[in-house]
Amino acid sequence: TVVVLDYGSQYTQLITRRVRELGVYSVLLPGDADMARITSHNPSVIILSGGPNSVHVEGAPSVPDTFFDHCQAKGIPVLGICYGMQLIVQLMGGEVKPADKAEYGRMPVHIVQESALYGEEMDPTQMVWMSHGDEAVKLPEGFKCVGKSDAGAVVAIENAERKIFGLQYHPEVTHSERGFETIRHFLFHIAKVEAGWTMQNVLDEQIAIVNQKVGPDDHVICALSGGVDSAVAATLVHKAIGDRLHCCFVDNGLLRYKEGERVMKMFKDHLHLPVTKIDDSARLLAKLKGVADPEKKRKTIGAQFIEVFKEYKDDVEKKTGVRPKFLVQGTLYPDVIESCPPPGSDQKHSHTIKSHHNVGGLPKELGFELVEPLRMLFKDEVRKLGLLMDVPQAFISRHPFPGPGLAVRVLGDVCADGALDTIRAVDEIYINAIKDAGLYDKIWQAFAVFLPIKSVGVQGDQRTHSHVVGLRAITSSDGMTADWYQFEPKFLQEVSAKICNEVKNVNRVVYDITSKPPSTVEWE
Ligand code: XMP
Repeated sequence: TVVVLDYGSQYTQLITRRVRELGVYSVLLPGDADMARITSHNPSVIILSGGPNSVHVEGAPSVPDTFFDHCQAKGIPVLGICYGMQLIVQLMGGEVKPADKAEYGRMPVHIVQESALYGEEMDPTQMVWMSHGDEAVKLPEGFKCVGKSDAGAVVAIENAERKIFGLQYHPEVTHSERGFETIRHFLFHIAKVEAGWTMQNVLDEQIAIVNQKVGPDDHVICALSGGVDSAVAATLVHKAIGDRLHCCFVDNGLLRYKEGERVMKMFKDHLHLPVTKIDDSARLLAKLKGVADPEKKRKTIGAQFIEVFKEYKDDVEKKTGVRPKFLVQGTLYPDVIESCPPPGSDQKHSHTIKSHHNVGGLPKELGFELVEPLRMLFKDEVRKLGLLMDVPQAFISRHPFPGPGLAVRVLGDVCADGALDTIRAVDEIYINAIKDAGLYDKIWQAFAVFLPIKSVGVQGDQRTHSHVVGLRAITSSDGMTADWYQFEPKFLQEVSAKICNEVKNVNRVVYDITSKPPSTVEWE
């Protein structure tokens, strides 16, 4: 295992992902993890990440006191990146100071002498992604500088004998041309780890774990959302325990055009999952009638979902005569990673999304034991795992869809006259046009929004007073920040014309050109 200690850089997860791409299992631990926690992962290599802090600030996060002695005793190679390199320098007797001139962005670095870190084949000059305000002005004993920036700052250091290395720049980001090569060289030539971590291994291992956890007479339930994560998790568990898995898919009346039919067909015909479709639309829409406040809508939808799920659980118990003991959830690695607290705070925090996103989550009080076979995986790894289990590519690459569904895409009262049907029709035209133009996979998320206002238009020589709809398309890597997608004007023109021609009740289309921040992705 390659243990990455997280000091808070925005690229930390990328380090772990790069290592995994090279076929080596890697975990991310908070930078203040103690030695017992680090060693419990049996590390063959430890990487110290970058971070926003300065090593000489009071309370700056650091490795445990015995860290370097332990690594030396066990022969564990260490690579420090950015803040990680500065930690090495400072803790081993060198000196780190604020740089006269901070260096940010893409810039060349030069290898200044032979090194184990770069090996023999590395280009003498390479472009890298730099981001630092401090620099190493004196190296600890036994270390040599093997790379420098144009400005002469130390950017690569090593103590080959003790197997401790440092890079001031970020080899994990793609802007660093030979960064991936450098990580590869470090892992396979210096640390001499073996690549053996593949999705097939993950699949076999997780199936074994599920079988070990779930007894031969136990039953398991799962709520499929229509998204990739729950579908992949359920498919894996189904492979492990067969039809002792019981899945439900709830149509809450807030799904897109024909979505319920489409995903049910995929679950049954393609993934062969045992799924019960529950139509709860009438009950939920009755509760949402007249509710315009976005948070209140989310709460109502979340509470109703829990009700429906409890009823489903009782049905499974009646049918099988056994109380289902386990619940499958599609939790992913980014939801469980703990990060290092910033100096001055004694709070641990994890990289979880906003609390309002937990619609569709099920409370602990239901008393289930959780089965979370994707807990160690990043989203792109889940997609690979899905493909391995024959989940269709078209399903794997679907854009994310929020738990509260169209409720956050119909502004105000979702039960307003014709709003849901209108937005379904508009969304279908828009998404099909995006697919036809070959743009679907270039866009992170695209959808239409129903606005509760009317504007004046002229259609077929008649004055109309009809609805305005908004179109949104964004690029993003995780939904936390986003840019609006720049379609060709012709594309927007054609989609707008098609919508106004084909959807009754709409005479105006607007395109959302706001990024996140200041906007959010959804309009509510
Ligand atoms: P926002 O609108 O917060 O959205 O910028 C970021 C991402 O999260 C999705 N989203 C939700 N997902 N329940 C969910 O499961 C929610 O209540 C919710 N609100 C937003 C949104 O679609 C985008 O992908």
